[in-house]
Amino acid sequence: MPDKRFNKNILCIGAGYVGGPTMAMIAAKCPQYKITVADTNEEKIKAWQTENLPIYEPGLLEVVKKSRDRNLFFSTDIEENIKKADIIFVSVNTPTKMYGIGAGKTADLQFWEKIARDIVRIADSDKIIVEKSTLPVRTAEAMERIFNGMNKKIHFDVVSNPEFLAEGTAISDLENPDRILIGSRETESGRIAREKIVEIYANWIPRDKIITCDIWSSELSKLVANAFLAQRISSINSISALCEKTEADIAKVARAIGMDSRIGPKFLNASVGFGGSCFKKDILNLVYICEYYGLHEVAQYWENVVKINEYQEERFVQKMIHAMFNTIAHKRIALFGFAFKANTGDTRESPAIYITRKLAEERAHVVINDPESLRNAAQDLKDIREYVEFETDPYKASQEAHAIAIMTEWELYKTLDYKKIYKRMEKPAFLFDGRNILDHQEIYEIGFNVYPIGKPALTHF
Ligand code: UDX
Ligand code: UDX
Repeated sequence: MPDKRFNKNILCIGAGYVGGPTMAMIAAKCPQYKITVADTNEEKIKAWQTENLPIYEPGLLEVVKKSRDRNLFFSTDIEENIKKADIIFVSVNTPTKMYGIGAGKTADLQFWEKIARDIVRIADSDKIIVEKSTLPVRTAEAMERIFNGMNKKIHFDVVSNPEFLAEGTAISDLENPDRILIGSRETESGRIAREKIVEIYANWIPRDKIITCDIWSSELSKLVANAFLAQRISSINSISALCEKTEADIAKVARAIGMDSRIGPKFLNASVGFGGSCFKKDILNLVYICEYYGLHEVAQYWENVVKINEYQEERFVQKMIHAMFNTIAHKRIALFGFAFKANTGDTRESPAIYITRKLAEERAHVVINDPESLRNAAQDLKDIREYVEFETDPYKASQEAHAIAIMTEWELYKTLDYKKIYKRMEKPAFLFDGRNILDHQEIYEIGFNVYPIGKPALTHF
């Protein structure tokens, strides 16, 4: 039975990077609702109840503490909470399927389908099911068939409400989003369900930022938003390769084009490549859908965004090996950063994983430093442990190293004493700036041979 002390009982299944912060924000903004976040992972649920949350996200702990045990609860009891909920957000992971039809491209929906079946089996009152995970277009259709195909006397509405938060800035993205998107069936009950989800966000988000549409457009918009963002990075990264050949400077090119208001200045930082759990997965998903509908040219177009990203990572390693006289065997190489971006401990699809593996293949000794992601890094690299070392102090990591490669744009790496670092390194000392965060001229003058992205190298040879 729903808890009558609250005017909505909301359950979120999946206490990860998306479900946890999103529900914490809703709970903080809406004390009149009871929010329960449930997950099959007991350890994660326990951690959500401590000071040591299972994910690192600036400002998250403060938001969680505002409502924990008041109207925000964490639980592993999914069954009981399904019964009590009026609205169920599903935010479980939808990784790329690695087997059978669509392997390597389409989303693996096995968790989603299992949850849908559990909901149908357990529920004894009408529910609104909200797709929070990113899903292939028309997933809602399959879900509706599962929900409403059992001839139970209760009704399920499926609503799509994709999440656009970015890690590292999740709290401000949730508090002040560019927009909230809610899609539903254009039926009477679909529209009523959609309005109930609008009501939640309207507690703190202006109505004109809450947009509603049909469910297919909503599902597709999420994939397309990520594809466009990733495409911008691949575009600028592809030009960075050309800059390195022509002595043009990618930062100057980005500034010049970004001042065109039609292009805009954001997301134009050339880098070692994009990572994160979403970009690659969502583009491959889009590619798969296009192929499924016979749109091969469209599929190829988007697939190239991923290919350019792989090319950029590969180019970076080749540049390192080539600069260091084509052999890095037994050389100590310090990686500054391992997370896929700054201000997160998340390493999913981080370019640093690929770079470390390639360096290890060449028999280098890779020493990894990162303020938040060493635990995840150890997990990612457990099969090549003999080639890697984890070091919490960047000065120690770079001691006696032949090279430093900056993988993540943490503020910390901008403020280190590079003179001190240089003194303790093997000579010639190399610095590969995969994020263009340092003053390259200054670093060069200290004595380093500097290799930025999309700018001429500064070498003493
Ligand atoms: C992920 C993707 O990043 C995002 O694109 C997608 O839209 C949703 O899945 P995220 O929150 O980052 O979002 O995933 P993750 O941190 O892995 O959290 C998913 C949680 O679901 C995990 O804690 C997992 O234990 C839980 N889960 C998964 C269940 O509770 N039950 C299941 O059956 C499967
Ligand atoms: C992304 C989307 O931004 C977000 O809306 C969606 O909900 C989830 O996917 P996230 O993956 O957390 O968020 O991080 P984002 O800031 O988009 O960065 C993704 C990757 O692109 C990172 O590896 C980042 O370092 C890289 N990047 C970003 C660049 O290389 N250059 C840039 O200019 C911007």
